[in-house]
Amino acid sequence: MEVIAIANQKGGCGKTTTTVNLAAYLALRGSHVLLIDLDPQGSSTTHLGIDKDNLPKNMNEVMMDRAKLEDIIIPTTVKGLDIAPTNNDLVEADAVLTSKVGREKRLRKKVQALNYDYVIIDTPPALGNMTLNALVASDRVIVPVQVEFFAVEGLKTLIRMLDELDELGYQPERRYLLTMCDNRRKITEEVSTKIRSLLGDAVFKVVIPENVRLVEAPSQGLPICLYDPSCSGALGYKDLADEVAA
Ligand SMILES: Nc1ncnc2c1ncn2[C@@H]1O[C@H](COP(=O)(O)OP(=O)(O)O)[C@@H](O)[C@H]1O
Ligand SMILES: [Mg+2]
Repeated sequence: MEVIAIANQKGGCGKTTTTVNLAAYLALRGSHVLLIDLDPQGSSTTHLGIDKDNLPKNMNEVMMDRAKLEDIIIPTTVKGLDIAPTNNDLVEADAVLTSKVGREKRLRKKVQALNYDYVIIDTPPALGNMTLNALVASDRVIVPVQVEFFAVEGLKTLIRMLDELDELGYQPERRYLLTMCDNRRKITEEVSTKIRSLLGDAVFKVVIPENVRLVEAPSQGLPICLYDPSCSGALGYKDLADEVAA
């Protein structure tokens, strides 16, 4: 089993889009995949066509130790892909955990008891208790980086947190994914080159192009592989799944 957190405290850089579509393509390759939605906004949950406001149980129950992770997992429309859904209730756990000893390890223990090929965790746009729990539970962290002028600056805070976790013995492998690339813009190549020279092989070879189909898919409650499998965004995420699985 491999556990992968998708994290970057910057909002709108493509975390949820990457979580849903990477998870879906890994499942299409034949793996048994669990998506854990750890963002109270519940965007991954909604993206997969699940009504987040009518969930019998959600990740808040799990993080508050009121339900077992196994008991809240539900199937999705993608064969082989399950989800541990969430909604705004999760702000409770985020707040309560702050005063708990060992708060960063809660998710790790629960995830380790599971039996999947991959567990992919979506995180909120903050380095709070949920992102901390996701990073501590993970073997690998994928950081989506929107190719724009301030991208590198924003990475420093996350890298500092990862360095601090390193010292505690939590060392998820760090990988970076360039997202929303538009090669018609000069800045795209400048920033991509800068990021690759700074982070080297940690940056995935595949880049995700800017593609409007990726914006439309969530409103239909579908991952891109079911919404428009031949668009450029779909091909990007398919290649990402191949690179992750390699
Ligand atoms: N490759 C892309 N091309 C175009 N739009 C994208 C792409 N990736 C994400 N988006 C859009 O950008 C917005 C933010 O993406 P999202 O995945 O929700 O980011 P985050 O979860 O980091 O906040 C969404 O409207 C999404 O549809
Ligand atoms: Mg998101």
